[in-house]
Amino acid sequence: MSVRPVSFRRALCAGALFVLAAGAGVAQDAPAAPPAALTAVKAAHWIDTESGRERGPVVVVIKGERIAEVRAGADVPAGATVIDLGDATLLPGLIDVHVHLTSDPTTSTGNYYRDALTRSAMDDAVLAPTLARRTLDAGFTTVRNVGAPAYIDVALRDAIDRGQIPGPRMLVATVAIGSTGGHADDSTGFSPDITFGGPSGVADGVDAVRAKVRENVKRGADVIKFMASAGVLSNEASVGAPQYSQAEMDAIVDEAHRWGKKVAAHAHGAEAIDMAIRAGVDSVEHCSFIDAEGLKLAKARGTYLDFDIYNDDYILAEYAKLGTPPAQIAKEKLVGRVQRENFRKAVQAGEKMAFATDAGVYPHGWNARQFAKMVQWGMTPMQAIQSATWNAADLLGWRDRVGAIKPGLYADLVAVKGDPLKDVSVLEHVDFVMKGGRVDKPDAAAR
Ligand code: ARG
Repeated sequence: MSVRPVSFRRALCAGALFVLAAGAGVAQDAPAAPPAALTAVKAAHWIDTESGRERGPVVVVIKGERIAEVRAGADVPAGATVIDLGDATLLPGLIDVHVHLTSDPTTSTGNYYRDALTRSAMDDAVLAPTLARRTLDAGFTTVRNVGAPAYIDVALRDAIDRGQIPGPRMLVATVAIGSTGGHADDSTGFSPDITFGGPSGVADGVDAVRAKVRENVKRGADVIKFMASAGVLSNEASVGAPQYSQAEMDAIVDEAHRWGKKVAAHAHGAEAIDMAIRAGVDSVEHCSFIDAEGLKLAKARGTYLDFDIYNDDYILAEYAKLGTPPAQIAKEKLVGRVQRENFRKAVQAGEKMAFATDAGVYPHGWNARQFAKMVQWGMTPMQAIQSATWNAADLLGWRDRVGAIKPGLYADLVAVKGDPLKDVSVLEHVDFVMKGGRVDKPDAAAR
């Protein structure tokens, strides 16, 4: 990252992140301490996410921020700093391919309209580093942030990459692209006298959606997110109807791929899912009403299906208390159960699937609660773990960096007590988190 002259206005905005960095106990301008030159992490068990097997005991030898060697046994190289995790199970850092680190339900005042009319992007920016930290502490060392206001995600990603604040590695989408009146249009359902400021992803027509893809890339997007269908937590009437024409979806994907960016399509309805897959998206998010045709198309095209199947529990338990309009909660009731049934069908059909929670709709740091749902609805624990490691890394195009404990990849490691293959919910209690060879959350015993 090159150092650019910073305008006075930009310096003021950047201040928001620095305040939080200081609050989190990180010196604002001191880079994070470099990892020890040679480290050996020992554990009795480890999950080989590439082959889908549990092995152990293991010594993971780390040089700088990368894994140098994965040794069977307990033999530690001379001169290494040893981190002995005892009987723990070691896994690669977890990956969530669908989060929003600029929102969290715990910020709600209980009044939907007050929140909509008083919360600013600056409020979101101030909170984001705390949410990033919670995510990292929960063992998620990589996330894909699929929609954020005001390019906060770009600033957050870059501050984390520079080592100025703790957080997961991020791929970011900037603003989600969507049609007028659609799931990405904040002003839907409000008086026409009200306009919302800041960068908007709203674009209509083939030329405008192409321009929006280019603008997002220009602003720092790693991935393009667009709304192929209507949604739950927004004010349009439908929950799943297509919100773009086939020509518009084709244009978004064509343009994004030209710039070397993958595409994630939000789609609940069967028709919108089919259209998005035909357009060539890399993943479909939510997938609620996917039908046999959608499963067939996804299989044939190798499209990832990302089901956020924990969300329903939280929305139905909590969102009425947040003052969410009843029409939105009614939409959730149409989606929740059938989405889980279709998740099961997708597992049975052998689809490519990545771990995607939509955290931000439910509290950050709770990401791992979805593992137990995935097992309840048809995955083996190993499949659920692979969806959040090796397979997620494939979707991100990052198998050369993350997703496995393997020489050459980043030393992103987590450890849990107990056997996640017997009880996947042990992943909700991660004791040890290392990112890039640096311990972010020491195991209680090691401390
Ligand atoms: N962001 C999504 C939407 O508003 C959340 C859907 C949550 N519901 C679910 N069953 N996954 O459309």
